[in-house]
Amino acid sequence: MRWIGTSFKMTKTRAEAVAYATGLREALATEPPSGVRQFVVPPATALSAVVAALGEDSPVLVGAQNAHWEDAGAWTGEISVPQVADAGARLVEIGHSERRAHFGDTDATVRLKVAATLRHGLRPLLCVGESDDVRTAGRSVAYVRAQTEAALDGLPDDALQHVLIAYEPVWAIGEGGREPHPEDIAPVFADLRARWGDEGPALLYGGSVHRGNAAGLLEVPHVNGLFVGRGAWQVADFLRLIALTCGAEGSVRAPG
Ligand code: PGA
Repeated sequence: MRWIGTSFKMTKTRAEAVAYATGLREALATEPPSGVRQFVVPPATALSAVVAALGEDSPVLVGAQNAHWEDAGAWTGEISVPQVADAGARLVEIGHSERRAHFGDTDATVRLKVAATLRHGLRPLLCVGESDDVRTAGRSVAYVRAQTEAALDGLPDDALQHVLIAYEPVWAIGEGGREPHPEDIAPVFADLRARWGDEGPALLYGGSVHRGNAAGLLEVPHVNGLFVGRGAWQVADFLRLIALTCGAEGSVRAPG
């Protein structure tokens, strides 16, 4: 099983998000993809509208871009896991590098958010990734492993299988991000798979993914899917990426 998902970040009105979800629903009804799970992560304002537009039995999971670790309380401006679940989210993105850089998310709060998400039966999408300085110092593997351990260590195996890890190098994300070569990211995926096991979290790659480079990135051993920003904000692009992800299903994987 492979995964393909997109976060809209801070883009799209409710009407735009609904138009996207409707386009997705219609296209997937005509040609349901097999061997791939899809998710979309709209802004919180559009969560319930996207869930409604996708329809009740949609194969597309809807996620929140963040959630607080407490269930309720005096946390102005925050949204809890029960609240995003109430809006229809089944997945919570946690620890994206933009949140770590600008909104104070730390390894400690990321861990609390992962635990809260699992406690409420939603799927955490844990984002990890090193800066360019760490990469040039040759410390990518150790850095990313430490981030995942800080977030996941101590979780029981039956919880780990519900976790998605998105390895998103900070140097690859967003405008000005550098597209990775498969050899840049392969050692991190090999280490994460060795650390967390074959039955552990699915491992996704994110950062400057688009329809032109997706197939090559999916060929990297241990990559179980893609997490996409700008390259999937048009529904036609996301549909193309879904098709590419299906096509990679069954391709020969390196052992181990
Ligand atoms: P990008 O963003 O695809 O626009 O580089 C990826 C991400 O931040 O998840």
